[in-house]
Amino acid sequence: MIGQKILDALNNQINEELFSAYLYLSMATYFHGEGWEGMAKWMENQAKEEDEHAMKIYKHIVDRGGRVLLKPIKQPKTEWASPLEAFQDSVKHEEYITSRIHDLVKLSGEEKDYATHIMLHWFVTEQVEEEAQVNEIVQKFERIGDSGNGMLMLDFHLGKRE
Ligand code: FEO
Repeated sequence: MIGQKILDALNNQINEELFSAYLYLSMATYFHGEGWEGMAKWMENQAKEEDEHAMKIYKHIVDRGGRVLLKPIKQPKTEWASPLEAFQDSVKHEEYITSRIHDLVKLSGEEKDYATHIMLHWFVTEQVEEEAQVNEIVQKFERIGDSGNGMLMLDFHLGKRE
């Protein structure tokens, strides 16, 4: 059986992951509106990954005999000044999610919930990858600067993500 403190914290994290999916879908619709179809596809794939993250925690709670409690998902931002600004926001958001995961790791250690502690290892590694991915894209934007051709190439490249 899972302890109440951990259960509450994991239910909160499900909400954070679902909000992440919402945020990235919102960015995808912004990109569609601006005609950046590759970036939109990249963000749609990112939103799907966030749903999978939520479901990993969901399954862990169910397997441990706990009750998942779904909370309202807040409305994400809907407009950005530029594609670069949207990706910069996703860097900030991933840094925030990393800090939430690290808090959970700390709490699971304090609560001696080793099953949750081990389950969270996957998320710690995943966050390193998630931050690296978006940081790399922001670097590419910065290198491109005002080049229209560069933007088209980056859009094409991002649309290749499976
Ligand atoms: Fe589920 Fe992008 O962190």
